[in-house]
Amino acid sequence: MSTKLSSRMDRFGASATVTLSARIAEMRAAGRSIISMNVGEPDQFTPENIKEAGIRAIKGNDTKYKVNMGIPELREAIAHKLKEDNNIDYSLSEIAVSVGAKQALMSSILAIVDEGDEVIIPVPCYLSYPDMVRFAGGIPVFPSLNPDDFSLNVDNIRERVTGRTKAVIICSPNNPTGSVYSEESLRELAELALEKDFYVIADEIYEKLMYGPKHFSIASVSDVVKSHVITINGFSKAYAMTGWRIGYAAARPDIIASINKIHSQQTTCVAGFIQQAAIEALAGPQDSVEIMRKSFEERRDYCYNRLSAMPGVKCPKPEGAFYIFPDISGCLNDKISTDSAFCEYVLEEEGVAIMPGSAYEWPGSIRISFASSMETLKEAMDKLEAAIRKLK
Ligand SMILES: Cc1ncc(COP(=O)(O)O)c(C=O)c1O
Repeated sequence: MSTKLSSRMDRFGASATVTLSARIAEMRAAGRSIISMNVGEPDQFTPENIKEAGIRAIKGNDTKYKVNMGIPELREAIAHKLKEDNNIDYSLSEIAVSVGAKQALMSSILAIVDEGDEVIIPVPCYLSYPDMVRFAGGIPVFPSLNPDDFSLNVDNIRERVTGRTKAVIICSPNNPTGSVYSEESLRELAELALEKDFYVIADEIYEKLMYGPKHFSIASVSDVVKSHVITINGFSKAYAMTGWRIGYAAARPDIIASINKIHSQQTTCVAGFIQQAAIEALAGPQDSVEIMRKSFEERRDYCYNRLSAMPGVKCPKPEGAFYIFPDISGCLNDKISTDSAFCEYVLEEEGVAIMPGSAYEWPGSIRISFASSMETLKEAMDKLEAAIRKLK
């Protein structure tokens, strides 16, 4: 007998954003005032019509177990959305409803990745992907996006493909950079996926928050490409539903059956009243999405202009999501010599919480979430600028 923890627990770490949020809560409890520029959630609240749908469902006693894969009405609404918005035909047996897009990502990886399989993740990347792959026993491989604008570089991916490559994980619009991958680059990746026979996990959770270019879904290229793709999406960002915990995966029926098998042993189903709220999100009025998108665009412009004018800061302009990812290597000195030390310094000195680029496999940069009010952003930018000027 041994009371040691499993060796699996040594393979991966806790989410750095979740850990930082816990630290901020402690600092606030100790009386410090902290501006959170680290959080990945809209500052807006869930629209009233969606909340009302959830409340109606609870009052109507929609509080029992539901079918494992998600209620048919919700999967129908998702299939309709994927056809209308993304030009992909998914049947109901090709859709699994999950506890957030995060669960859909983790279950997809568990469903396809064997011990020792390689999973290519272009970087900078969403910080959960590498640890999810490690948790599943896979090996993350990190080719770079184009450093100037963080666009997708398929040649860099091609160079890292081996006989053990199982999948490539992409995220467009991108967390943490805000870049949007072009249709051309996604078609090129689709060709490579067919040639080398690997999966593409396409995380499209920021698809509704874009400031110029058009979104393109890689699964829409052709039926054979679709059979290699797992499309991930959710409700957290577009409908300000982070705390409801609902998302989905769409893929071939055998992949979806495997994902559902995992969920059947893990979470059983998503609560019925949350699924009812999600139906309202997709089928109800969409004006709140556009209002939120516009407000983020204004905030993106403000942060971009402020950061670009700061000494030592280089900043590609985000085209989607609500993050900006400036290079701050020009601000570092002998004492504050890494992005992590920089974030620690800004948190301690100025009470502004930001994420270090190294958490996204890209040292020398920082990630700032601009999903806060203009007033808060102004204060945060003033404080960040003051901290940078003190370093000079
Ligand atoms: C790229 C990306 N994918 C997935 C998620 C998880 O979303 P959900 O709240 O639906 O689990 C996030 C959340 O920050 C994200 O940034």
